[in-house]
Amino acid sequence: MVEVSTSILSVKKGEESKTFFALEASKTDYFHIDVMDGEFVEKNTYQTMLEYASYIRRISNAPLDVHLMVKDIKKAVDDFSAVEPNIITFHLEACKNEQEVLETINYIKQNNCKIGISVKPNTKIEEVYKYLPYIHMCLIMTVEPGKGGQSYLSEMTEKIRTLKKYIDDNHLEIDIEVDGGINLRTAPEVKKAGANILVAGTAILNAVDYKVIIDELKD
Ligand code: DX5
Ligand code: ZN
Repeated sequence: MVEVSTSILSVKKGEESKTFFALEASKTDYFHIDVMDGEFVEKNTYQTMLEYASYIRRISNAPLDVHLMVKDIKKAVDDFSAVEPNIITFHLEACKNEQEVLETINYIKQNNCKIGISVKPNTKIEEVYKYLPYIHMCLIMTVEPGKGGQSYLSEMTEKIRTLKKYIDDNHLEIDIEVDGGINLRTAPEVKKAGANILVAGTAILNAVDYKVIIDELKD
């Protein structure tokens, strides 16, 4: 089953609450919360996302899918645990070695939520293999992390396919999430390659009817 996680990164100022209510009514499977610290990526969305996520938590039962693009993962896990996320994803590139990755996994585990690891476009997918038995999801970035509205990097399709094959060959149960440039044109390709959670920001927020586009993305 394919699910859609709506990135609220590009929500228009002043239209936040209207947009969040409409997304809730349109049955987005998750709200995707893009947390940026101004260090791991240039932009800083940290406080805004904390505010948005707490607001959404109050008005909606939809699960929160928290994507941490931060250097200090533990601090972000502590801060965002208040909004009871369903998934917390951190970047493999933010950890300096294998021990730190394993420690981070264990740290997130204490929050009773699912654990995801994300890889940037230039990181080889093989680097995540050894952690797969300990996590629930792998997030393949299909653009450089940092901002919404970029174009899908077509080389990422092969990366999704490679991961899907490895997961199946090893009888693992891991969700594959894709993030960046997902729209009605690119969705069929990523789904065919094996992705089952599609993050979409601008494609959904710019659509006239959120429900229609969410259903079409899943279809
Ligand atoms: C990029 C973020 C994405 C992005 C998605 O760093 O992780 O979630 O905002 O936005 P679109 O769908 O516009 O590419
Ligand atoms: Zn994201």
